[in-house]
Amino acid sequence: MVSLGDVKRSAATLFSQGQHLAALRLYDAIVAAAPLDYDARLKVADCALAMGDATAAKVYRAVAWYCMKSGHPLPALVCARVLEAHGADSSDITATLVVSYGSESELLGKVTSRVARPADGLPVTVPDVRQPAPPDAVATALQRAEHATDSFKDFPDAVHPIPLLSTMSEAAFRRVLGTLVLRRLPAGALVIREGEPGHSFFFVAGGDLRVFATDGLGRQTDLARLGEGAVFGEMALLSAQPRSASVGCLSDVDVLEVGRQSLASLADELGAVAEALHGFTRERLLGNLMATSPLFRPFNRMQQRDLLRRFTSHDVAPGTVVINEGEEGRGLFVVLSGDLEVSRRSSDGSTVPLGALKTGDVFGEMALLRNARTTATVVAQRPATVLFLAREYVARMVAGVPEIKNYLEALAEDREIDNQLVMGEDDTPADERVLI
Ligand code: CMP
Repeated sequence: MVSLGDVKRSAATLFSQGQHLAALRLYDAIVAAAPLDYDARLKVADCALAMGDATAAKVYRAVAWYCMKSGHPLPALVCARVLEAHGADSSDITATLVVSYGSESELLGKVTSRVARPADGLPVTVPDVRQPAPPDAVATALQRAEHATDSFKDFPDAVHPIPLLSTMSEAAFRRVLGTLVLRRLPAGALVIREGEPGHSFFFVAGGDLRVFATDGLGRQTDLARLGEGAVFGEMALLSAQPRSASVGCLSDVDVLEVGRQSLASLADELGAVAEALHGFTRERLLGNLMATSPLFRPFNRMQQRDLLRRFTSHDVAPGTVVINEGEEGRGLFVVLSGDLEVSRRSSDGSTVPLGALKTGDVFGEMALLRNARTTATVVAQRPATVLFLAREYVARMVAGVPEIKNYLEALAEDREIDNQLVMGEDDTPADERVLI
């Protein structure tokens, strides 16, 4: 016996190698052991379809209805999209989806549950796929996948809403559903690459994904794992900035993509949708800041949350002066989103740009550490959100946590050296400078 998770991984590998019959036999073994595994049923249909068997349509329909009733609307939508792509009608599925999961649905209850997929650890008896398959292997598997839950009656009375979609009017929900594009990706594929422009966001319908950031040295930091029902890719879309992180597939993945174009078609509802997406973004930015900023590194999760609560958050319009050169240092700032420019006045009165600040960057530390006046001006270049921690609290943190003190001091020192080079104030003779 092999665990269900391992069988699925082997089946996915076989499928990606074009060994559709062998993959089908493994997925069928899963359905036999765990009839509630709608994902394995869907994959049986995928394998049969890849072998040119059009009767797979019956399985997609059966899985769609099961998923819809058991609280898994997005895999139901995957089935509908596959049916449409092969010329079959799935309008009854999408119509029921809107009625069951739309904002006016009576099924969207407070006490919700969904019928869980069997656990990955479940033991499964598998056939030896090196041996020839029985002649009726495909027909038997399709039959089993189609009828696996025929006698299942334990459907929940109330279902979970679909993030975002269930908050829209039914008309808008229907419009968006019509524009969702299904992307079916193998394990290892990258859905989003950090730094690229972003014109769409995604719903995860199935599979597991990993969100990760890559630093200048190529080191990766895991930011999150995403599974069925998660939304991602909204940040770049909202901010018109490059993708803030990469998102890759840990398994076979089905995602439903919403392009900028289809959002534009929402007209009246766009404001509400953008607001809901902003909610995701803010939570994620804060989470990422805690995962990646050296400022939060010395603390455990609870302390990080506590520290974060002491910051106040400020949305600033382009052109806003956050720090004015020569003023008293008021506290420490962290860029949550947006870009800010740092500049200093030179002796002839002109403004010399010193650098840019972006998400995760800390500023305001120099004046605080030296108890001196600020040495540069910081201006928002585009809409930005900055977090602010008052100087009294920073002083306590610096006194109590040596790692923070060291980090801020090293940061201030590096910046001062850079600034002197830019301003031409370095007293070191040119031939003694070491440029790293
Ligand atoms: P975007 O910047 O467009 O592309 C990468 C996506 O990764 C980003 O939008 C978010 O949707 C997602 N993302 C970034 N950080 C997190 C996180 N901490 N948790 C979940 N998703 C995240």
